[in-house]
Amino acid sequence: MTTTRFQSKADPSAAPEGAPKVHVVTFGCQMNKYDSELAEGRFRARGYATTEAMDDADVVLFNTCSVREHAEERTYSWLGEIKRAKEARPELVIGVMGCMAQRVEEEVFRRAGHVDLVVGTREFQRLPELVEEVRSRRADPERFGARDRKILATDGEVMVEVDRSKEVYTGGRHAYLAVMRGCDLSCTYCIVPTTRGKVQSRPIESLVKEARWLVEQGVQVLTLLGQTVNSYGEDFPAPQGDAPRYRGRQGRPSLADLLYELQEIEGLERLRLITLHPAYVTRPFAEAIRDCDKVDRFLPLPAQAGSDPVLKAMKRGYTLDLYRERIALLREVVPDIELGSDWIVGFPGEEEADFQGSLDFLEEVGFVVNYIFKYDPRPTTRAAERMEDSITVAVKKERNRRLLDCSARVALRRMSAWVGREVEVFLEDASEKHPGTLLGRTRHGLPISLRGDEALLGTSVRARVGDATAYGLSGERLE
Ligand code: SAH
Ligand code: SF4
Ligand code: F3S
Repeated sequence: MTTTRFQSKADPSAAPEGAPKVHVVTFGCQMNKYDSELAEGRFRARGYATTEAMDDADVVLFNTCSVREHAEERTYSWLGEIKRAKEARPELVIGVMGCMAQRVEEEVFRRAGHVDLVVGTREFQRLPELVEEVRSRRADPERFGARDRKILATDGEVMVEVDRSKEVYTGGRHAYLAVMRGCDLSCTYCIVPTTRGKVQSRPIESLVKEARWLVEQGVQVLTLLGQTVNSYGEDFPAPQGDAPRYRGRQGRPSLADLLYELQEIEGLERLRLITLHPAYVTRPFAEAIRDCDKVDRFLPLPAQAGSDPVLKAMKRGYTLDLYRERIALLREVVPDIELGSDWIVGFPGEEEADFQGSLDFLEEVGFVVNYIFKYDPRPTTRAAERMEDSITVAVKKERNRRLLDCSARVALRRMSAWVGREVEVFLEDASEKHPGTLLGRTRHGLPISLRGDEALLGTSVRARVGDATAYGLSGERLE
């Protein structure tokens, strides 16, 4: 998954004059972006307006990430910034939600005394009610001292149920949809199982309903999210008796079944998946990609490392050979599939020869998109507690750069193989930098730019690829 800071879009739905305003700052991955949308939707349903201006907001929320220390430090520095606003406007309500909230809980109050609310990854939909609760506690200083006015809601067992049917979607042509959340694996470096909890898949019917609602609101591209999205359904009970049987383990519903259902939605053009784990790549899944032409022929399937001893120390649950088998299966069924990967450099004990393995494996598989991270020990993880962070910062930096160079070379080779070919492009956006240029993606999820009229946005066109860089293609539309 990629981690960035997202800016929420303004809310075009007319909120009543004088309505309270909420502003959400989102850090982290796409699931946080989705959760911020859900939280904003709940506020709107309660009569709030969403605002892009933090200065203008009555409630400011930070949806946070814990995956690397830097992500947490960034949140604290934003919290530091907003302290002055709170001094000037004591009625302001400040909340911290998301993975860092779930991980550090009360520590947020200790480090940032002006925060009123800390809400974890499973309770964020209660935020409007919790904000009201903060307000009513403030209004009753006799019963609630300064500390007692603060609220902590970090139950990690709650089921996140979603019903947006009475809301308005403001995200345009594209939407995220978390089909499962949480992670039942235990990679030794990773904080996500702690922050996101055990796997919870949402029932197929509920997801199809939300997808249909999104499409009615103008969505054409849907990105299905999950920490290990292809383990979707593994947490459901196996069907008994004459209950319908699906394509998952012992007849459970699986991602393949969900894809076949979503494929049927008229008006939906493209389906993307973030992020897969090699352990759950099955033949029925590969066949669903083959059969469902709306599904991008691109899969983010993080390898993390190219050395068996490192993969073992990471407890990734596969060897390179097993990973190769899974790609062989995917390529047998969908021959021209493109793959992406995440990599960690400088994991404890990673020797130069192990690192060379990552360079070789990236090259061997031909990953077209790569996200590279320097190992960062996260408190309470097995790697942080039991392994020495033995690789120096300088070596981590150097390996990071070498792997990036390798990635750029391989990506360029992969992209260049498309030059001269005819492709189908779904046009998603107009370029802000280059007027008259439209941005889209090929069936294989590769970014491509074409000249054309904005009236073509939201349609699929045929194009011939003319040029390639490591980051995308450009081409010409065929009449
Ligand atoms: N569920 C996804 C990963 C989610 S975290 C998966 O299994 O692939 C996103 C990425 O951050 C990971 O793929 C990994 O490359 C990186 N990452 C996670 N923990 C890290 C750590 N402690 N140090 C450096 N990078 C880390
Ligand atoms: Fe973290 Fe591993 Fe789970 Fe991915 S599969 S979220 S890296 S524990
Ligand atoms: Fe960060 Fe949580 Fe996503 S730790 S990467 S916001 S799952």
